[in-house]
Amino acid sequence: VIPPDESFETPVAVVDVAVVRRNAERAVRVLAQAGLKWRPHIKTHKCLQVAQIQIEAGAGGLTVATPREAEVMAQVCDDLLLAYPPVGPTKLDRVLALPEQVRLTIALDSREALDALITGAQSRGVRPGVLIEVDMGMRRVGVPDVETAAALASEAQASPHVDYRGILFYPGHIRTTGSDRDSMVRGLAGRLTSLIEHLSDRGLRPEVVSGGSTPTLWSMSELPGVTECRAGTWIYNDRDIAALGVCEPSDQAYAVCATVVSNGLEGQAVVDAGSKALAKEALRGEGFGFGEVQGRPEVVVRSVSEEHGVLDLSRSDWRPQIGERVLIVPNHVCVSVNLQDRVLAFQDSVWAPWELPARGRGPFVPSQ
Ligand SMILES: Cc1ncc(COP(=O)(O)O)c(C=O)c1O
Repeated sequence: VIPPDESFETPVAVVDVAVVRRNAERAVRVLAQAGLKWRPHIKTHKCLQVAQIQIEAGAGGLTVATPREAEVMAQVCDDLLLAYPPVGPTKLDRVLALPEQVRLTIALDSREALDALITGAQSRGVRPGVLIEVDMGMRRVGVPDVETAAALASEAQASPHVDYRGILFYPGHIRTTGSDRDSMVRGLAGRLTSLIEHLSDRGLRPEVVSGGSTPTLWSMSELPGVTECRAGTWIYNDRDIAALGVCEPSDQAYAVCATVVSNGLEGQAVVDAGSKALAKEALRGEGFGFGEVQGRPEVVVRSVSEEHGVLDLSRSDWRPQIGERVLIVPNHVCVSVNLQDRVLAFQDSVWAPWELPARGRGPFVPSQ
């Protein structure tokens, strides 16, 4: 649905709340069938109203990446996972200072981070949960092998100041479609089973095995031992997730509404959404450009400058008029959301601005 011209200036991000609710309910349902909890990563939406919908749908806690996200989400949820190493004194201080009722779990992958957490927890008199992050093939963060995982897990288990709960991994390398994805998931399942067995043999059985992503959401039942899935992008979906065959266009809850501002050149039209509204992330699946017009997938945003998006009309008969509004689905929704001041939520024929308080780093507080 396109918001009315007279009330809302473009570019503006719009969210279809009915689709958000349906996506949340589907994630909870499919994961429950596999015996898992959904702990969505809120970096996708950064919005309290959307988090509330996830919780009402049955999410078992929320995942965050930054202290700001944790502080904001603590207002609506008392079970938070910081899936990011809390390195640096101010970051650690902020997460350890969350309200008392918040059951906080922190993922980390180094002795330095664990030691600092133990010291911080002891001096504050709190006892956060700890998950050891293991690299399962993405090669971003995570310990490389079972030996290192076991060493960190036993240090955590031995400390009275933290509560060793288990392990965490992020299968961000699984971004292919079809049979490629199936064989990567099988490989991951084998490595996970052996990791869990090794830890259990050493008295370090992980009570929590936190994993998953949107591209693996439909495969979680094939990953034995996993207890929760952190799929985040699924709440809105985007062009990337559709290109991977993981969602249908009707599951895309977010788009940027833009106005056609120029159509003088053959084969193209220009809209007022550029890299500062859509972001400039390459498509990871098959295809090109930086977004596509909702309902007209043959019309792609071929190039962007900061405030201009150039629509490629070469594969379409559609010739948009100056002033016409279109909805554009970005390649990567999380980065587009992070560029917006707010989103316009559409629900029961009403438009409402929803703020995004978990964006940014939070108020600047100089250290003493
Ligand atoms: C650590 C971690 N967990 C979960 C997620 C959510 O994955 P997705 O965006 O595929 O839903 C991300 C996404 O970047 C992540 O970095």
